[in-house]
Amino acid sequence: MEPAQILLEHATPPDLPTHETVAVRRVVVFGATGRIGREVVAEAASRGWTVRAAARDPASVTARERIVPWTVNLDDEATVEAAIGDCDAVIDCLGPRRNHLGEVASFAGHARAILAAMGRVRVERLVVLSGAGVRLEHERLGPFDRVMRALVGSMAPYVLAAKQVEFESIRKSDVAWTALRPPVVLSGARTGRYRLAEAAPGFGAHISRADVAVALVDQVAAQDWICRAPFLWSPRGRESTRPA
Ligand SMILES: NC(=O)c1ccc[n+]([C@@H]2O[C@H](COP(=O)([O-])OP(=O)(O)OC[C@H]3O[C@@H](n4cnc5c(N)ncnc54)[C@H](OP(=O)(O)O)[C@@H]3O)[C@@H](O)[C@H]2O)c1
Repeated sequence: MEPAQILLEHATPPDLPTHETVAVRRVVVFGATGRIGREVVAEAASRGWTVRAAARDPASVTARERIVPWTVNLDDEATVEAAIGDCDAVIDCLGPRRNHLGEVASFAGHARAILAAMGRVRVERLVVLSGAGVRLEHERLGPFDRVMRALVGSMAPYVLAAKQVEFESIRKSDVAWTALRPPVVLSGARTGRYRLAEAAPGFGAHISRADVAVALVDQVAAQDWICRAPFLWSPRGRESTRPA
């Protein structure tokens, strides 16, 4: 299988080349034991890539052809660096397990650790599983999406805050990041069809975990959404799957 290519056309630090093409052969997935992370690991391996499935308890990842369970402690920068080293891209599927204030500080630290390690080992591409509740500065939402965000914010304020601080660190970084923001994520079949857009999806939008995985893995070598954070959902009715 021909390796997918990453073309980095974003603003890079002065000592790194722009317009660099990187063949994707190995990626690391953080949060590889999560409901979505597991799907991402399987999807990336299905593309012929070697996948480092990074987890604090790698015993809960099944080693298979092209899937390598990898121990990481996000509070230990040496293990983060070792997980990222000699990979072509990072896919971050981390999510707080508890709605607890401590997760906010933890997630700020996790993002910083991953970004710092990427800088040290010169890995530039980062694809992040974010969420529809994460806000962009000056973003305008319709009434439905405002209500949904307020609802999520009141039910799980610290989960939302943790993902927001994670996003703020990534947004300000020098890496070639893309953050995808799905609304409701459900179990369901992999269709391979999804929609990415800057405008919020509105009432009833959802997507399966398997299709979130397809979209995240597609982004590793895609160009259109570098340094952007589109919403991600399954197309409804006549909605096209092309970027809006
Ligand atoms: N599921 C949804 O409906 C949905 C919708 C929109 C957005 N999202 C976003 O996607 C994220 C992930 O979703 P999910 O359903 O896959 O979540 P999940 O099943 O709870 O998985 C969370 C992952 O993060 C890892 N993790 C959490 N804290 C960690 C830490 N301190 N150190 C190392 N690993 C840590 C977990 O590892 P362990 O297994 O070791 O705990 C697990 O692999 C959510 O948090 C949310 O931001 C989800």
